[in-house]
Amino acid sequence: MDRYEFKLKPIGNAAIEAYKTLRTNLMFGSGGEKPNVITVSSSLPGEGKSSTSLFLAISFAQLGQKVLLIDADMRKPGENPANEKGLSYLLEKHLTVEDAICSTNYENLHFLPSGLPTQNPVELFSRDRFSVMLKYLVEDLHYDKVVIDTPSAGSFIDGAVIAAQTDGTLLVAKCGSTDAGSLMRTKQQLESLSVRIIGVVLNVMKKGEYGRCSTYKRYVRYYAKKSKWL
Ligand SMILES: Nc1ncnc2c1ncn2[C@@H]1O[C@H](COP(=O)(O)OP(=O)(O)OP(=O)(O)O)[C@@H](O)[C@H]1O
Ligand SMILES: [Mg+2]
Repeated sequence: MDRYEFKLKPIGNAAIEAYKTLRTNLMFGSGGEKPNVITVSSSLPGEGKSSTSLFLAISFAQLGQKVLLIDADMRKPGENPANEKGLSYLLEKHLTVEDAICSTNYENLHFLPSGLPTQNPVELFSRDRFSVMLKYLVEDLHYDKVVIDTPSAGSFIDGAVIAAQTDGTLLVAKCGSTDAGSLMRTKQQLESLSVRIIGVVLNVMKKGEYGRCSTYKRYVRYYAKKSKWL
């Protein structure tokens, strides 16, 4: 198994606590089955999907759970861009899952890089091979949690196609930047594909800034009420 090294900038205790709270809500919140395969999505680029995916995955791994982080952003692969061993090759049938997964510098956390960019990510994610792979990861390779980082749902349909095949989707909104209209359009688009939205993460919220994010409050509460996860 290849090894991948995540190099993280320090994020501070408040952020670490926030990810622990998110993890706890996902694990113990009431309201239906607990999600094992989680998509992380957002309306627009740069709102914090990749960061949230990574920190959430690390947070689960620190509890001793066997976790796989998948970089499914084939539009702009963030990790290992030059490596052929990744999801795109795997879905094109050139690789086995076992050959593509890397260990990491975090105990219990494995990583599946996106691989080389491909012209047809939507088709790749729409084929049976993707959903069969997700089932195999949970049932045969015994991952407790699979966290999938996606491209922004407002720009590409890939994220919605992926989300529709997973147990639940977290929507990331960037405080002071994401507008409520974009968030609602993304929510509606995802729900039209029967995606289960399990919560909203307000990212880049500084201390004392909750008031400034009041536009989102009702959406956060709305999701919370509906999904009972946050
Ligand atoms: N909570 C945060 N505090 C400070 N910086 C952050 C935070 N979350 C993300 N960032 C920074 O913002 C930038 C964009 O974050 P990230 O790559 O996670 O977004 P993304 O939604 O995955 O973007 P893209 O749509 O381009 O894939 C990065 O430089 C990241 O380090
Ligand atoms: Mg990203």
